Amino acid sequence: VVDIRSLYSELGLFTLDPGFKATASCTSNITFIDGEKGILLYRGYPIEQLAAKSTFTETAYLLMKGELPTKQQLNDFNGLINKHTMVHEQLLNFYHGFRRDAHPMAIMVGVVGALSAFYHDSLDINNQQHREISAIRLLAKIPTIAAACYKHSVGQPFIYPDNSLDYSSNLLRMLFGVPSEDYQVDPVVAKALDKILILHADHEQNASTSTVRLAGSTGANPFAAISAGIGALWGPLHGGANEAVLSMLEEIGSVDKVPQFLKRARDPEDSFRLMGFGHRVYRNHDPRATVLRKEAQKVLDAMDKHDDPRFKLAMELERIALEDDYFIKRKLYPNVDFYSGIIESAMGIPTNMFTVMFALARCVGWITQWKEMIVDPDQVIGRPRQLYKGLARREYKPMSKR
Ligand code: ACO
Repeated sequence: VVDIRSLYSELGLFTLDPGFKATASCTSNITFIDGEKGILLYRGYPIEQLAAKSTFTETAYLLMKGELPTKQQLNDFNGLINKHTMVHEQLLNFYHGFRRDAHPMAIMVGVVGALSAFYHDSLDINNQQHREISAIRLLAKIPTIAAACYKHSVGQPFIYPDNSLDYSSNLLRMLFGVPSEDYQVDPVVAKALDKILILHADHEQNASTSTVRLAGSTGANPFAAISAGIGALWGPLHGGANEAVLSMLEEIGSVDKVPQFLKRARDPEDSFRLMGFGHRVYRNHDPRATVLRKEAQKVLDAMDKHDDPRFKLAMELERIALEDDYFIKRKLYPNVDFYSGIIESAMGIPTNMFTVMFALARCVGWITQWKEMIVDPDQVIGRPRQLYKGLARREYKPMSKR
């Protein structure tokens, strides 16, 4: 056994905190979370109030600028977004290089990263105007980019943005419209989608946001940093959980199989986890999940899908898990991803697009956090240390002596 201290000439004060369970990496004015009380505030405003009363672009303005906009400010902001919804035609050519069965998140990582190849001003991160326009471009173009991922996968022509529509309606039209038909947006669906986007817009230093900050701390351009964040979001323990929830519900199949799967989740020898349950920070409830649980019921009722078997199964799974000692003892409650997939699936969004929708919403948080970091005088390159546990120094052995 190597005495770690003997390996270092000076170890000094050293904190080993795998997973950053008790280490803050930055200060921030954007989002506050109290995990014990289940509180989430954007710039001081409770998430429940924003979900009930705001719109996604108004919330985006709040996150990016720090205050709720006046009517004129919101009109100007929406106008600016509308001006930038189109993507360069050559960027659309990128999609044809991907297989139709590529996972849309794989396409997103590439296409968003490639934005810096089209907007060279994004490389000049020290120029405030360039940072601002990069943020607007990202917010404006991300629905167009995301919808094109879906259209590519189903072999349909890309639908160009319709700037007479609001943000979520435009997104729905680009996803589900076809050139020969007049696509009518269902206002209930558009409202529910807007709410989902608000709830996912920011969540302080989660894995993907920390990735954006870490990549950005090197001076990398915002599109490169956000592409790194999209990669981090994709994992099933983070944003990929919404897709994993639906796959899990399909695997469980029926209510009578729930106990068998819960038994697997409890088994320390089995790596199976109940997807959509548990959260690093929320220990009593996830306030976003509470809003979405109600919204799921509303959307399914409005769409006449209240008998949706997956929703019934999810409700039963939730009921049984919340009465189970294993989950009670570990404070494991449904998180936002448990419900978002159910609503999105009722809207007709395919399972492999769920994490793309999450990424689309989180772009606002990522770019706001990146902008905050760039002007923070305390910001230095993120460079964690490690505690080396390997062998001590030894001499190179010639091949003949190994
Ligand atoms: N199912 C079964 N057991 C679980 C689950 C789960 N979903 N989540 C945690 N546990 C158990 C662990 O096995 C561990 O048990 P032990 O103490 O007996 O070893 C205990 O609860 C603590 O779990 P940790 O992994 O230490 O908790 P951590 O805070 O590191 O992980 C995480 C949080 C990753 C979200 C975890 O709960 C999980 O994997 N959940 C399922 C995936 C998921 O839904 N992710 C989405 C998160 S929300 C978001 O990203 C938007």
